[in-house]
Order: sequence, then structure tokens, then C-alpha cells
Amino acid sequence: MNLLAADTSCDESCVAIINTDRWSLLSDVVHSHIGKMTAFGGVVPEVASREHLKALPLAVHEALAQASLELADIDHFVVTNRPGLIGALLVGVSHIKALAYAEKKPFSVINHIEGHLYSPLLSTLKSPDAEPSTPPPFPWIALVVSGGHSELYHVKNELENEWIGGTADDAAGEAFDKIGKLLGLAYPAGPAIDRWVRDSASDLDRIAYKFPIAQLEGPNFSFSGLKTAVLLALRKLKNPSESDKLAIAASAQEMILRALIDKARMAVKTFPGASLVVTGGVACNSRFRALAPDAFFPKPKHCTDNAAMIAVVAGMRAKRGELAIADWTTTAIPHLA
Ligand code: KG4
Ligand code: ZN
Repeated sequence: MNLLAADTSCDESCVAIINTDRWSLLSDVVHSHIGKMTAFGGVVPEVASREHLKALPLAVHEALAQASLELADIDHFVVTNRPGLIGALLVGVSHIKALAYAEKKPFSVINHIEGHLYSPLLSTLKSPDAEPSTPPPFPWIALVVSGGHSELYHVKNELENEWIGGTADDAAGEAFDKIGKLLGLAYPAGPAIDRWVRDSASDLDRIAYKFPIAQLEGPNFSFSGLKTAVLLALRKLKNPSESDKLAIAASAQEMILRALIDKARMAVKTFPGASLVVTGGVACNSRFRALAPDAFFPKPKHCTDNAAMIAVVAGMRAKRGELAIADWTTTAIPHLA
């Protein structure tokens, strides 16, 4: 079966095609709108919706061309319908529903967070650019850290997962982006902070500032206080030099990553035998990967938003006869439901 999946939950128009019999990834297309958002310093939902309207049909076309398939060769259509920016999700759901209707094929909906949770399974697919490899066996403690989410899940198996904790306020990626903005870096600042600290910071820079991190009970996080602490440190310096800013960036990154790792390891201890998995955009961070050698990180391109992770969840469910067919009244939902 050829399965086409799309994800338009935020500011990337993503389309991927997998063949479930050969268990192979035939295409994996991501059209990012980041260039359009830089001027605004963040994602503007209305702009993202309009960009999806332009980029999604192109991404579908490109994914079919990469897979050497026609639309009529697709047996099942899949789309992310929750959670995310409502306008952005509506574009994806409407477009994929229309394709399924026109082709007289079934369509299904998948939760975006489940896509991130199961993204380690992407390594099991055959693809032109990588040999298949085996991720850690279930159960997992999966940390999903992106611009919109910092959540911990107990992933029991291919079908069952349970939320066990998360952020009380900002997501980790949001903290990176907002702290970067205070330091004069363009959106999204997470990758820029990562590169700057990796290439220029010393071990002393990483501990130069003792920023507070709220100690919440259980496997929960809070990053809004850190943002305020960075703002106050910059105000105190009045005219911060580049090396002051670098030390602030390095120390703030260290605080965020150590808080995430501590809580994730705490969760692993409460589920003995579970493996730690880290996904979402922040999982691309090079310092994160160095600080957590005990964790499994998917390839960076499969940590940020993509549709291959949506296709793999749908494909895995289809193989087990557990992929629910959506009806024509199915719509987008902005929250986690
Ligand atoms: O998963 P993602 O592509 O989109 C969603 O938010 O769903 O994550 C994007 C977030 C942004 O906040 C970005 O700054 C952050 O992930 N990010 C990083 C890195 N790469 C992306 N943060 C820290 N270090 C990175 N290398
Ligand atoms: Zn995401």
C-alpha cells in the first residue's frame, strides 16, 4: 500500500510517502516558511495558513515526483489534524480530504505529537539515503521538545502511550527563541544559539551565569522565569559585549538542557527498563546530544517537523489493522485531544 501523509500543524508544509509492504520511505518533502517569519520574530498563524495554501499543493506534487508515483497510485491519505495552529491545520485537512475524495480513497487523521513520539521508528524504514537501523525496544520515556511542546510520555508500545509530565509555561524551543531574541538573534534562535555556543563558548561561559530554573514537582518543567532572568542580566550589564552575550547564551542553554535531562532521567527511574528517547526541534541541539549519551535521538531532519513521522505512525497502525478511517465530517482541532 502507498500511503501519503501531510503535516501542516505549524510553519512547515510537509508531505511524505511510504510503501507499507516494502516498509520503505519513498519521499520526504518539507517546505519551511521560516524565511517569511523572520521579519515578524516568530510564527504568525495567519501568515502560516496562507503559506500552506501555496506550499502544500507543491509539496504533494514534489513528493509524488520523488516517489515516481501518480496521485492515482496512492492507496490511503493521512493528515495531521491536531494539535497545532488551527488555520494551518485546516488547510492541511481540507486539502488532503479533497485529494482522498477526488481519488475515491480512504483518509485518516494522526496526532502530531504521536508523530514526534514514534519518530525513532523512522530508522526502521528503507530509504535511498540510509540503511535501516533498530531503535531501542519499548517501553520508552519520550521527551518531545519543540517550539510548541515540552512533554514527557510513557510510550508502552506501538499503539499505547501516556502523558506523564510537561511544561507549566513556555516550551523549551520557545525559551531558546525568546532568549535569542533578547540577545539580538533572528527567529528561530535555537539553532543559532546551538551553533554559536558550540563554535565559540568555553566551559567557563557555560557556568558564568547561575540562572534560576523553577523546581516543579514530578517530571514537570518551567522556563518562563529563565527568560526574565536573562532579561534582568542584560539590563544590569547596560551595554553587554559580544562575549557577555555569548556567556549568557551558553549558560541559559546549559540550564534548559540540564533541566530537561534531569527530569527525563527521573521519569526513566520510575519506569524501570524504559529507554530514553528525545525528539522535537530542540533534540537537534548538539550540546543536548553530548550531555545525554544515554538517550536515543532520531536524525535531526526527523526531529524537526516532518510528514514521514506521520506516515510511519499511520503505516504501523495500518499493518496492525488499527488505522481508523476518518469520515467526511472530520475536522482540525487546535489542542491535544
Ligand atoms: O519541532 P519543531 O521543528 O517545530 C515545532 O515547534 O513543532 O521545533 C522548532 C523549535 C524552535 O523553537 C527552534 O528554535 C528549536 O526547535 N530548535 C532548536 C534547535 N533546532 C531547532 N533549539 C535548540 N537547538 C537546536 N539545534
Ligand atoms: Zn512538532
